[in-house]
Amino acid sequence: MSEEIKVGVVGCGYWGPNLIRNFSGLPGCRLAAVCDVSRERLEHMSRLYAGVACFDNFDRFLKESGCDAVAIATPVYLHYKMACPALESGKHVFIEKPMASSSKECDALVELAAERSLTLMVGHTFLYSAPVRKIKEIVQAGTIGDIRYVSSRRLNLGLFQKDINVVWDLAPHDISIVNYIMDAAPTAVNCQGEAHVTQGIEDVSSLAMFFPGGRFAMIHSSWLDPKKVREMTVVGTKEMILYDDLEPLQKIKIYDQRVERPPHYDTYAEFTYSYHYGDMHAPRIDQVEPLRVECGHFLDCIRTGKRPLTDGRSGRDVVRVLEAASESLGRQGARVEV
Ligand SMILES: NC(=O)c1ccc[n+]([C@@H]2O[C@H](COP(=O)([O-])OP(=O)(O)OC[C@H]3O[C@@H](n4cnc5c(N)ncnc54)[C@H](O)[C@@H]3O)[C@@H](O)[C@H]2O)c1
Repeated sequence: MSEEIKVGVVGCGYWGPNLIRNFSGLPGCRLAAVCDVSRERLEHMSRLYAGVACFDNFDRFLKESGCDAVAIATPVYLHYKMACPALESGKHVFIEKPMASSSKECDALVELAAERSLTLMVGHTFLYSAPVRKIKEIVQAGTIGDIRYVSSRRLNLGLFQKDINVVWDLAPHDISIVNYIMDAAPTAVNCQGEAHVTQGIEDVSSLAMFFPGGRFAMIHSSWLDPKKVREMTVVGTKEMILYDDLEPLQKIKIYDQRVERPPHYDTYAEFTYSYHYGDMHAPRIDQVEPLRVECGHFLDCIRTGKRPLTDGRSGRDVVRVLEAASESLGRQGARVEV
């Protein structure tokens, strides 16, 4: 491969243009081609990026664009169908979240990429964001103690998807963050939800994930809420972290608060639980676009052959949780092993 990595992006709908913008601006990379079945979207892209080759057919895009790497930002049911021939034709592949429609498809892609020594990366964007990186750093430093539980809320009005429910659309962000900060995948889940707007497609859900060591996470996802909310709380044995992604500056607040139960007690005062209220502080968070870091990491992994932070296996782990959540939804919230 020449020094300059030629990237092609398929899917120029809502999210694809963000990938296109980032790949077109990164050093050592050239946006060589874009692909979409919509002529209108292609015309819009060619107005923004003069000289970029436009394809309305994916097979021709693969054969004729001369790309070294392909980024896929199409609806989820197409991820495997596009990633598979892209890898088979020797291209490095970046797939938007969720990686595919089933863990079986994910496994096949992981195997194919390994056989061909190609980079396979999944777009779990939040793992490239400064606040999530900061939370990971704090958890690893041990100052918050052991994680007891994580709770997350991702709510808004819309965007309603036609092919996937709110769990497959929004929860992948939270699942990937929780797996990352817990440094583990859940062993079991239960999930409840309801479809109010489109029959059979849940627009509100509550997902519980059970991790080894009694650790727990709960994720509330909704397309049907009047207020946009992007909040996560990480409760440790010594401290607690509140992450609000909508805060412009203080996205993370660390609370020196905890509750302890005395091991022995003789008096009533000792019997009562001890509440510790300490200070709150908000660490400085860099303002860098996570998607730029993510796209740069993909290019770096292609150049060096190193394993992406969000590789195919971690993408597969998220899809496994989604599959178990779907099974649980179908069984009225029963507990399902992952
Ligand atoms: N990482 C993130 O934060 C983030 C945010 C939003 C969406 N996404 C993901 O990005 C992906 C795309 O989502 P979206 O909201 O942009 O969807 P979208 O429906 O807005 O866009 C999909 C595009 O794919 C095109 N397309 C459909 N079939 C095609 C085909 N056969 N060949 C070429 N193009 C085709 C459509 O014309 C459309 O322009 C999804 O996997 C979604 O989960 C990720």
